[in-house]
Amino acid sequence: MLSSYLLLFTVALVASNFIYKFAHKYRNLPPGPLGVPILGYLPFLDVSNLGEAFKNIAKTYGDIFSLRVGTEMAVVLNSYESIKAAFSKTELCARPNTFMFRFFSQGENGIASTSGEKWEVQRKFTHSNLKALGFGQNKMESFIKDEIHDLIELLEEKSKGGQPVEIGYDINVSIVNVIWALITGERKPHHDQKLRDFLTSVNKGIELASTSGILLFMPFLVKIFPESMFGIDKMRKWMKHSYSYLQEVIDEHKVNHTDVSSNQDFIDAFLSEMKKDGAHPSFNEFQLLVLCSELFGAGGEPTSVTLKWALRFLALNPHVQAKAQAEIQQVVGNNRMVDLEDRPNLPYVQAMIHEIIRFSDIHPIGVMHSPSEDTELEGFKLPKGTFIFPNFHAVHRDPRHWEKPEELYPEHWLDANGQFVPNHDGFIAFGAGKRKCPGQEVAQMELFSFVANLIQKFNFSLPASDCGTLETSMGCVVSPKPYDLVLEARY
Ligand code: HEM
Repeated sequence: MLSSYLLLFTVALVASNFIYKFAHKYRNLPPGPLGVPILGYLPFLDVSNLGEAFKNIAKTYGDIFSLRVGTEMAVVLNSYESIKAAFSKTELCARPNTFMFRFFSQGENGIASTSGEKWEVQRKFTHSNLKALGFGQNKMESFIKDEIHDLIELLEEKSKGGQPVEIGYDINVSIVNVIWALITGERKPHHDQKLRDFLTSVNKGIELASTSGILLFMPFLVKIFPESMFGIDKMRKWMKHSYSYLQEVIDEHKVNHTDVSSNQDFIDAFLSEMKKDGAHPSFNEFQLLVLCSELFGAGGEPTSVTLKWALRFLALNPHVQAKAQAEIQQVVGNNRMVDLEDRPNLPYVQAMIHEIIRFSDIHPIGVMHSPSEDTELEGFKLPKGTFIFPNFHAVHRDPRHWEKPEELYPEHWLDANGQFVPNHDGFIAFGAGKRKCPGQEVAQMELFSFVANLIQKFNFSLPASDCGTLETSMGCVVSPKPYDLVLEARY
């Protein structure tokens, strides 16, 4: 009898200690809905449309709310102002230290899934070199123009006879090829088998990453069930495949890159940095391998998906397409390609590109951050390790910032004189603060060049069988379901 009392007493003591610690850790969290044990609020969320689901919860609990997703505590930020305030704090710019993030960064390599000093050093290097190699460089612009030229030829051939065609894969090859050129210094022909195999392994990895999404919220599952249940084994295989190809290219660079004062591409720049006296220890070959692979995933996928959305939106909004074509006709004509230098003279086209990026909303709940230490935000306490979701969808559809949030309306970006205004409160597609996308300039440069040159050459429309819905496929980013387009050559 006494032993039963003792047992009961011990259980009660352990439970109350747990509850006390839990309540203490999470006191002063923002308010939010209650969930159920283990699953938290997950069963009540429309996971296919989390941006909208979070937006609705914010109507009850306010701009900043908390909820449990699986076993993880999360805080959701639903306004431009709260995301900017949060991400200006260094302590809120770390990534969660969980199984999936460690898996993608192969421990703690690359930049997209890492935190702390190594992240800061590597990110600074990546950002400045992407800018130096890509932005405004003649060599890079000529790579892009050659790529567009080849793409146009291919599309002319493919769409001969006026039948509807699916061009998603061709777009994907072109965009990845531009990033390939930035990283390796050479452009591959579209039919290059190695490039296609590489693209397949990158795409397979991205596809499988969404299958394993549940591990983000319930990391303990990987300790109970076999990895194969979540596609981790297959993902490992595809990652190994892309790493081995990248390693070959890095090895070639090591042999050929002897002049550290002349860096032709990203790999050259990294190898030069490695050779510097006193270089940070994170400049090592494995880091280079993971970083290059990340640039393909983090850079190639969002840009090609945005381009796929762009052509669908333009087909659905012929008045926007026609207005941009008229501006190009007037400024550039059709005897030469549209150059980056034409940008200041093409305000409507620039506005249209920015509006496409806003409207396509490819990262509806952004990319997760996590406090590196307990941090105050707007009077709330965010404990170390909490997941932070910036709800970009809520911001991009916020009527306080956008006159017509549910429409593709390039005029959002034009002033009363029709001049392009590049900075717009409420535009958050590339993130905010210290962890903002380091590829923003490259992405904007690519999107401008591809869209402007494609609409200079073709009219894009949908086949009669397409009723114009905006169906999406879920992955790391939200992309349009594969669709056919009718391409009509304009000259
Ligand atoms: C339309 C195209 C793109 C969009 C919308 C986009 C958006 C984003 C967003 C929202 C983030 C997360 C920021 C955060 O954690 O708060 C991000 C991170 C990142 N992006 Fe982009 N991106 C695009 C293109 C690119 C390109 C072209 C590159 C490189 C060539 C690139 C490289 C990266 C990298 C390396 C990160 C991780 C940065 C870090 O964790 O510090 N992105 N991007």
